[in-house]
Amino acid sequence: MARRKKIYEGKAKILYEGPEPGTLVQYFKDDATANNAEKRAVVEGKGVLNNRLCEFFMNGLTQIGVPTHFIRRLNMREQLIRQVEIIPLEVIVRNSAAGSMAKRLGMEEGASLPRPIVEFSYKDDALGDPLVPEEYIIAFGWATQQDLDDIVSLALRVNDFMSGVMFGVGIKLVDFKIEIGRVWDNEFMRLVVADEISPDSCRLWDMETGQKLDKDVFRRDLGSLTDAYTEVAKRLGVMPSNVTHRPKPTLIN
Ligand code: TMP
Repeated sequence: MARRKKIYEGKAKILYEGPEPGTLVQYFKDDATANNAEKRAVVEGKGVLNNRLCEFFMNGLTQIGVPTHFIRRLNMREQLIRQVEIIPLEVIVRNSAAGSMAKRLGMEEGASLPRPIVEFSYKDDALGDPLVPEEYIIAFGWATQQDLDDIVSLALRVNDFMSGVMFGVGIKLVDFKIEIGRVWDNEFMRLVVADEISPDSCRLWDMETGQKLDKDVFRRDLGSLTDAYTEVAKRLGVMPSNVTHRPKPTLIN
């Protein structure tokens, strides 16, 4: 069997060379990590759920005109994506205080913020992805001021889309992380949403009960991560119910 060339292996995904130049295949693993990989487990089915959910979110973004690296889902665990030059930043949007922000500022988790707040972390596992101000980003040349303005506006559009989609199924989008890539068309550069959008990279709380339906279930030992992600997928009509219930063939007399 022909072997594909592995381009990169991260904590939750593997990138392989794609079928055409400028494309990659993104494979979703079942591995879950937390606290910069101090805590690890294999969560059966997580990769399949995240592949489907990511497809759903990326397709929705494309339909409302937000550019992404996503081309199409290939199978249960893989999607075809455009090769991009990843900007080494985690772009985090927060609607309510939670996680590291709540801890840093001594805020109660769930406290609402006066407006969505966009913040940046420098992508470096060895340093624990430290929060960085815009000054650092520009001074160190990771992105220009124009890039940052465009990134903030992309991030806020993703926030509006994701908040609305989640609100429609009774889920509050507390915060999320995205990554941004550069795509070159000759000398013209465009910024696109890259990496993944899934419950691994969002905080999602049930609007009635406050139940967590995201990776905090794993980070904080709150129960089954597969059950939480399956609940999100079911509410969005992504899977598994609509995958297994194909219409029966009808006999034509
Ligand atoms: P934080 O509160 O831990 O800074 O996380 C903010 C959001 O970013 C949360 O939805 C989880 C997500 N996130 C990732 O996707 N990857 C990461 O490495 C980190 C630290 C956070």
